[in-house]
Amino acid sequence: MSSPVRRLAEWDAARLEGLADTHETPLYVQDLERVRENYARMADAFPEGRVMYAAKANTASAVLGTLVEAGAGIECASAGEVERALSAGTPPERVQYTAVNPPEEDLDYAVSTAREHPELTVTAGAKDTIDRLAERGFSGRLCLRVNPGVGAGHHEKVSTGANAKFGVPIERAPDLLAEADERGFDVVGIHAHAGSGISGEDLAAHRELVSRMGELARRTDLGLEFVDIGGGFGVPYREAEDPLDLAAVADATREALGEVDATLVVEPGRYLVADAGVLLTRVNTVKPAGDELVVGVDAGMTTLARPAMYDAHHAIRSLAGTGDCETVEATVTGPICESGDVFGSYELPDPARGDLLAIGNAGAYGYEMASQYNSRPRPATAVIEDDKSAVDRRRETVADVTRLEREVPWL
Ligand code: LLP
Repeated sequence: MSSPVRRLAEWDAARLEGLADTHETPLYVQDLERVRENYARMADAFPEGRVMYAAKANTASAVLGTLVEAGAGIECASAGEVERALSAGTPPERVQYTAVNPPEEDLDYAVSTAREHPELTVTAGAKDTIDRLAERGFSGRLCLRVNPGVGAGHHEKVSTGANAKFGVPIERAPDLLAEADERGFDVVGIHAHAGSGISGEDLAAHRELVSRMGELARRTDLGLEFVDIGGGFGVPYREAEDPLDLAAVADATREALGEVDATLVVEPGRYLVADAGVLLTRVNTVKPAGDELVVGVDAGMTTLARPAMYDAHHAIRSLAGTGDCETVEATVTGPICESGDVFGSYELPDPARGDLLAIGNAGAYGYEMASQYNSRPRPATAVIEDDKSAVDRRRETVADVTRLEREVPWL
């Protein structure tokens, strides 16, 4: 069994240098072998269950294809993600669409896709969504997302379980499930998600969520096919953090769920892809500023939003030199005109212009959350496997940034 954590130090420096030289920076690099290892560990922990990969963490077609080939299903947060999942070859019976407050076009797409592929499951998190599906003539496989009233996660912005935006209050679920059944839907499952980046400390919240879901499943006599307890399995972002003990989480899950006559479904995103990815960036500016050393790099909050958005920490390793020289403390900053465009304070070996830096755990919610703010083109992404490598999403150009502009007739 592979190690549950892959530290930034383990990446082959020469290989990353080669990729940066060939494809330029900033560049996301995703190791498909590591994705496969992470999946195998998750599938082993829940042998009786089903793993649905939460595509929002990384929707690269190569990543989706790798996971599907390994046996995963795909949990999709939008019509776009369903389209990506199907294009990557996911069998429709392994696709679950779980949009929150879905826009009209999303539902139109989901319903017409479900007509073509009736094996697809649609998850609704509000009575309005069920009504809107019925109005479109959908009576296929329906899963109800419930708000379990218990949340967890690495930051309040990613704690979903007790946030009223997500799902129907769990007390209302039995009535809504029965009503959906009476209306002719094929009610196949119940779903909840506590939050993202759950660590060992959140185990009690996780257990509580699962126990409430088990109770709900037992109260429901609709012959549910599955109980989906969401994702959220955290990974260590700091050297000192321990990886989640997946076997212990799985045991706690089974115990909390109790006897249910339905398949357990888990929806990991981050766990499968985070440590399989790094972001390569080059130093372009080194300047002393008072007591501080500021190191400017070509990736910023538009490339990797997590530090600016959640104060998230990502390890940074300098790939320059042998690493024998003394380190200095430096504030690593991006090229965006915002003071929040800072990765943080790092010990780096004698930083100099041209140094290549690798930013760790960039495989989850990295490229996915990239933007064109400041009219910065989005970076390229590359995948590697054994000794092979390929760019799977090309770098955007300034022409891409202005591509959607239309002339305003009166100007
Ligand atoms: N299932 C549902 C319904 C979700 O909403 C999510 C994440 C997942 C599964 C997967 O969670 P994971 O296993 O990846 O933690 N951008 C944030 C994370 C937002 C997650 C939103 N939902 C970040 O960078 O930390």
